[in-house]
Formats: sequence, C-alpha cells, structure tokens
Amino acid sequence: MERTFAIIKPDAFAAGNAGRILARIYAEGFKVVGLKKLWLSKVEAEGFYHVHRERPFFGELTDFMSQGPCVVMVLEAEGAIKKWRDLMGATDPAKADEGTLRKEFGTSIGNNATHGSDAPETAAFEIPYFFSGLELL
Ligand code: RTP
Ligand code: MG
Repeated sequence: MERTFAIIKPDAFAAGNAGRILARIYAEGFKVVGLKKLWLSKVEAEGFYHVHRERPFFGELTDFMSQGPCVVMVLEAEGAIKKWRDLMGATDPAKADEGTLRKEFGTSIGNNATHGSDAPETAAFEIPYFFSGLELL
C-alpha cells in the first residue's frame, strides 16, 4: 500500500464541491487516512510550494492557496500517487480528460480544484508538512 498527499483547493471548497470530490475518492477505492479543513497563511503556502519559488506564477499560486479554506488529506491505495494524479487529470483543466476531477471542478490552470503529490519523495515531504503520526492512525 502507498500513501499520497491531496488537497481540495480553496476554489473547489468555496464552490461547495468538497463533498462531491470526497465521494469520488471513496468510489475509486482510496482509504482516507487523514483529513482536515484548514486555511493556509501565505507563509504556509509558500513553504508548501517552495519547489516552485523561482517560477513566475509563485506569487499568484500562493495567494490563491491562502485565499480561503481548503481540505488536506492523506489517501492510501495500491499505487496511490499515480492513481490520484490520474483521477485529478492534467494541471490545466482545459487539457484534462473527461471524467477527471480537474475537468469537472477546475476552471483554470490556477484554479484547478485539487493537488496531489507527484512522486514518493514529494509525498514524504508533503504528508508530514500537514499531519503528525498520531493523526494518521
Ligand atoms: P499541484 O502541484 O497543485 O498538484 O499541480 P501539478 O503538479 O499538476 O502542477 P505543478 O507544475 O506542480 O504546479 C503547481 C500549481 O501551480 C499552478 N500553475 N500555474 N500559471 C501557470 O502557468 C501555472 N502553472 C502551474 C497550478 O495551479 C498548479 O496546480
Ligand atoms: Mg505539483
């Protein structure tokens, strides 16, 4: 079994889509090991996305991620990292396949509804950024 880190981003939470996204997560067979709602500060969002700090969209991205509440989760499944990335779809909702979460709930490359770890090393940083071991029992 593998674990990945996922976010229902502020756009999807504000639009009232958290319940529908969670229903898809269960329907696809993930176990929800950790889940909480929180409102990231700008500094917390910058720390989370620090790998993108040199990118031109870093300011926009961290403003967006701190604009309102989100839901952070740890999901478990066989091949969870790829399975969740596949369910999310392409970064740009306009390029995402039919049936993916970003196609259904995303509205632009910035407002793309969900986040997912892109590799085991990324998950190993992102999971403990938000969850203690006790929260993942
Ligand atoms: P995420 O990290 O949020 O799961 O998204 P991702 O792996 O599919 O994409 P990534 O390259 O890691 O980019 C992180 C987030 O930055 C925003 N972005 N904006 N304006 C742009 O050109 C641009 N490119 C990326 C997206 O919201 C993306 O999810
Ligand atoms: Mg990424």
